[in-house]
Amino acid sequence: MLVDIIAGARPNFMKIAPIIEAIQKEQRRGTNIKYRLVHTGQHYDRNMSDSFFEQLGIPKPSINLEAGSGTQAEQTATIMMRYEKVLLSAKPDLVIVVGDVTSTMACAITAKKMGNIKVAHVEAGIRSNDMNMPEEINRIVTDSITDYFFTTTHTANDNLRATGIPDERIFFVGNTMIDTLLKQAPLFHQPPFWNKLKLQSGEYIVLTLHRPNNVDNVSDLKSILVAIIKASRGLPIIFPVHPRTAKTLEGIGIRANNLHVSEPLSYLQFNYLVQHSKVVITDSGGIQEETTVMHVPCITLRDNTERPETCSMGTNELIGTNPDAIFPALEKLFAGNWKKGNIPYMWDGKAAERIVSVLKNMV
Ligand code: UD1
Repeated sequence: MLVDIIAGARPNFMKIAPIIEAIQKEQRRGTNIKYRLVHTGQHYDRNMSDSFFEQLGIPKPSINLEAGSGTQAEQTATIMMRYEKVLLSAKPDLVIVVGDVTSTMACAITAKKMGNIKVAHVEAGIRSNDMNMPEEINRIVTDSITDYFFTTTHTANDNLRATGIPDERIFFVGNTMIDTLLKQAPLFHQPPFWNKLKLQSGEYIVLTLHRPNNVDNVSDLKSILVAIIKASRGLPIIFPVHPRTAKTLEGIGIRANNLHVSEPLSYLQFNYLVQHSKVVITDSGGIQEETTVMHVPCITLRDNTERPETCSMGTNELIGTNPDAIFPALEKLFAGNWKKGNIPYMWDGKAAERIVSVLKNMV
């Protein structure tokens, strides 16, 4: 069986790494699963892509579509046209897409339209019910044409059942992003500015922002930053800046002694920072899950989440996008009243093994 594994953007890389590793293990046992790793090139900067491949031990992609940046439609179209050419020259039996980025949807559609290629979606079924998020559209479109649904939570299973997907096509396997987190945790290390800024465990805030809602408009981003600085009690705020946010940040010119802006960090440095932080303030999806597993308080600047278990069970709290909500949330944290949280079922580091066991039965 030939499987194409698709990765395009930063949050995909930690999800595919353990799947490739589990396939390689099966290959050594003599199972006839071959794979091609297809990088769409949606993320292409060294610190958004290559450094993840190196640190997570992901093999060099077999194919790079080099799609690059563009509008949603441009990116989708470029990926589809280039991936179709790949499929026309050699068809896999199965295409595995992960997560909810543009590359996920574009490759799922392209494969499905070729006929006789099956599509498997890892992290299927999660929903924010917010159609203003491009990721929600990507999730819904991808799941509407998926054959095999690999899920991370009970809620995802329920969401899929509610759309009429039969149980035989839903495989509750756990969370491959957490496989990577647990495997790499012993290798987490301090970023180079740790000593220079005299950072101390539990005595700083990590901030990440990249959702169009929060960062595409100068005054919105500025209000969020001003509110965080005001509520921070002077603790260092470490802000690794996504390229999308960097563009808006240039126009703000905000300065505060305790705000420290950096380039996007590598996986091992970023997660060291998170693991040792007092709190993470974010609008990311994956970071809500990683903080839950590391038992680090997480304040999410969004009105909804496709990962509700991180709130109902974990350490995450949604406070919306109104900057006025930041002060009371941080006060609650400083008062020592933040929940400790539990880890969702099957987020145990073995999701990729479970996925590959399912694949084995298809060979
Ligand atoms: C994408 C995903 C989002 C994910 C995020 C993580 C979609 C719809 N969104 O959003 O779900 O959480 O990745 O990072 O797929 N850029 C660079 N260098 C790069 C990559 C991007 O400079 O290596 C710039 C682009 O030129 C663009 C901006 O960053 O202006 C945004 O990139 P894009 O891939 O369009 O979406 P993200 O905001 O990164």
